[in-house]
Amino acid sequence: MWLSIFLNSPIFLLLIALILLLVWIRKNQNYFKDRKIPYLKSPVILGAYADVALGRKGVYRTIEHIYNDIKFKDEKYFGIFVFHKPGLFVKDLDIIKQMLITDFNSFNNRYVASNIHDPLGYYQLFLLKNPLWKTIRSKMTPFFSSVKLKASYNLIEKLGRDLNHYVTVRFNDAHKKVEFDLKNLTDYFFVDVIASIAYGVEANTIKNSGGEFYEAAHSIFDVKNFWRGLEMSSMFLVPQISKYFGFQIFSKLTTKFFYDVMPDVIAERKRSKIRRNDLIDTLIELENELIPEHDSHTKLDIMLGQVGIFLGAGYETSSSTASFTLYELSKQPDLQNILRDEIKNALRKNEGKVTYEMVSNSTEMPFLHQIVLETLRMYSVLSTIDRECTNSITIDNGRFTIPKGMPITIPLFALCRDEKYFENSLKYDPYRFAPENIHKIPPLLQNVSFGLGQRNCIGERLGLIQTKTVLIMILKDFKIEANERTPESIEFEKKAMIINSAKRLLVDFVQEPVI
Ligand code: HEM
Ligand SMILES: *[C@@H]1O[C@H](CO)[C@@H](O)[C@H](O)[C@H]1NC(C)=O
Ligand SMILES: *[C@@H]1O[C@H](CO)[C@@H](O)[C@H](O)[C@H]1NC(C)=O
Ligand SMILES: *[C@@H]1O[C@H](CO)[C@@H](O)[C@H](O)[C@H]1NC(C)=O
Repeated sequence: MWLSIFLNSPIFLLLIALILLLVWIRKNQNYFKDRKIPYLKSPVILGAYADVALGRKGVYRTIEHIYNDIKFKDEKYFGIFVFHKPGLFVKDLDIIKQMLITDFNSFNNRYVASNIHDPLGYYQLFLLKNPLWKTIRSKMTPFFSSVKLKASYNLIEKLGRDLNHYVTVRFNDAHKKVEFDLKNLTDYFFVDVIASIAYGVEANTIKNSGGEFYEAAHSIFDVKNFWRGLEMSSMFLVPQISKYFGFQIFSKLTTKFFYDVMPDVIAERKRSKIRRNDLIDTLIELENELIPEHDSHTKLDIMLGQVGIFLGAGYETSSSTASFTLYELSKQPDLQNILRDEIKNALRKNEGKVTYEMVSNSTEMPFLHQIVLETLRMYSVLSTIDRECTNSITIDNGRFTIPKGMPITIPLFALCRDEKYFENSLKYDPYRFAPENIHKIPPLLQNVSFGLGQRNCIGERLGLIQTKTVLIMILKDFKIEANERTPESIEFEKKAMIINSAKRLLVDFVQEPVI
């Protein structure tokens, strides 16, 4: 009788649950030990990212710390716990190549994910899982072709001139030097570019120093806001829990903005029958092709998800690259002068105009290209390239079989700062990428900043073009100088998932046109 009361009591059930949990944790904890694979010992549950979860360190420094752990100095890969889950941390370039390129089909999803209760986040290309990823990716690819980008370059160039004007009018006889916040300044430009070439909308961010589009874009990565920081980091680190907390990739504000504004833009486009060959046209075609598997609400979510990721991935990545570049050039006037000379010569050849060729063909302005590659190396936009094993596969001559579902961490940021591959790696030195030196860099790392293989950055071309455009548009008329408020060195924003400086990048602009 006592026994039956005990067996039915909540305490008993709780006890059982606790025992099961402990067994399960133990099984997980022993995962690598049982398989004789070296692994990083870390706190139960919080795992390798405990410091990130506890707000002690950012994800960049955490990844770097793990990468440089002396215990794994000679390992090609080792186990880590991505929170509770056994995952693989890969250092060896051949295995990385195998995962990203040769055996892509066994690693064609990201582990990072959102959940179906966050439809915009769930369906956007960056997080989308197969098989739908493949359909959407192939549909979106033509938007980034050189023909397409060339055709819309006049819009990008026009916005570059607008930004140049925005800066110019702040000078007068009393103000020979004007201080700017580099990130803010370049943010304006990129938000306008994406709105213009992807949505066919004039967002007027530059003109109004902000506005609705800017707010919508800005709030995606507003990690200084506690909730946004938590939401973002948990999706990247413990995607399983996001659904229990109602986490979303796009903030409430951004989501509402897209649902308020974009259906009208899409409807107007359908009504007018004018084709602009932009993202909206692509999405309208996509909508027609998704019949009949998806209902109309899901179709709208799928479309708006892509609208969202364009703004999300299209602006923050490029503005961090452009602003870190200008920051580094403020510290090294010699490099800046060489670049400004190159800009001068290129403009002279083209009647003073910034052309598509200048920003798309890396042999036209080789130094500019090297500069951008060096910024991407030192400030790699993502801390890791992340994959999920989608088909169990054996690596390292049969030594380890990766099970389906295992998260794979490729430590992009740390690889790009490894002394073994980049001598004096903390020095900003664009000459590493000069033709006479590039052979010193392993081929895989010569071109890794946009990821590799079939799931690499779909916006690589656009990212380079728009970043180079804003750099030329600023440097052609202004010299950038460090002042006493310019940070001595960069500390990374701890909660950021896309690299960002914790301190504002403030520098002086001095008006001094190259021609
Ligand atoms: C300097 C600029 C940029 C950098 C450094 C950058 C970097 C990256 C990286 C490292 C990835 C992950 C690749 C991988 O897993 O192998 C990625 C993915 C992606 N990027 Fe970019 N990106 C940039 C600009 C852009 C732009 C302008 C867009 C679009 C407007 C864009 C859209 C995307 C999308 C949609 C993905 C996910 C692709 C997929 O999963 O199929 N990015 N980017
Ligand atoms: C930069 O932008 C942020 C966010 O919009 C704003 O709070 C801040 O005042 C801006 N800083 C400058 C110097 O314009
Ligand atoms: C790129 O520029 C170089 C040098 O200006 C030129 O020789 C080459 O043909 C260009 N490539 C393309 C694809 O236009
Ligand atoms: C880098 O990769 C892109 C495509 O991913 C390719 O178009 C480009 O030629 C590569 N550049 C180098 C220097 O390998």
